Amino acid sequence: MADLDGVKVAHNYYTEVPFKNNKPFHVKGANNLDWGMKKHLSNIFDETSQNTVMFAFDHGYFMGAAAGLERLDLVVPKILPYVDVLMGTRGAIRSCVPASGKKGIALRTTSGSSMLDEDLSHEILAVDIEDAIRMNADCLAVQTFIGADGQLSSLDNLSKAVNSGIRYSIPVMGVVAVGKQMERTDRFFKLATRIVAELGANIIKTYYCENFEEVVAACPVPIVVAGGKKLPEKEALLLAYLSISHGAKGVDMGRNIFQSENPVEMCAAVRKIVHEGFNDKEAFEYYQEMVHH
Ligand code: R5P
Repeated sequence: MADLDGVKVAHNYYTEVPFKNNKPFHVKGANNLDWGMKKHLSNIFDETSQNTVMFAFDHGYFMGAAAGLERLDLVVPKILPYVDVLMGTRGAIRSCVPASGKKGIALRTTSGSSMLDEDLSHEILAVDIEDAIRMNADCLAVQTFIGADGQLSSLDNLSKAVNSGIRYSIPVMGVVAVGKQMERTDRFFKLATRIVAELGANIIKTYYCENFEEVVAACPVPIVVAGGKKLPEKEALLLAYLSISHGAKGVDMGRNIFQSENPVEMCAAVRKIVHEGFNDKEAFEYYQEMVHH
């Protein structure tokens, strides 16, 4: 058992010093990976902005038909032009996403709980690597529950996904879940993101928090920020702006796009922040112009 008494507080994040092992490949922490991995990561992260717009519509895997996602076949094609990557389940993607599109695929591979459960932290790795290959997935998304009852099994799922991902050059995106009991502090996110990255995830999806630039600095792979519950559009754009300006390499937004009254315009505005350097005010003006046009 590690001696946790008197653990020194980490503080030397050197947030002003850029990540060192960053050339020639544009994705953080991926410089030493093989061609196949880099190809998939390039399908996710734009070479010019180095960022990504992911659209998360995997909520049905535990929520059923979530508000705004009742008809995936209608919503997804409308949003499609404004996203780089679709994050969904194999059932949703196979049934509702045109195979002709050129978008990246972040394939949700874990499942096992539903909204009816008290504790959502117990999941299994449900998708075989062969099926991820058949779907040409650009990354395997695995939910992790650090500090929760299901921590061990979720890290087992993550490790198995990393092992098979390495075998076939498919990156893994570790998703940091926040449960009812888990604090949304930088202390928690520094712990969770770093554990997930050290276990081999190539991308981390997590939440924005205070001292986010320290979370980013201590995480050796790119972080994309989840949107969380629906906010007014202006606030959601501020969240996207704060995330990108503090070092996130993209957003993986769901409800703040598909539950907006204007999902297409909202997604287009988020894209301006992620790829074109808009701040939240500029993006909100753009959103309003698109809506009223
Ligand atoms: C949650 O477990 C799912 O992975 C969602 O994709 C994620 O929460 C992002 O969606 P939202 O922006 O709605 O939080």
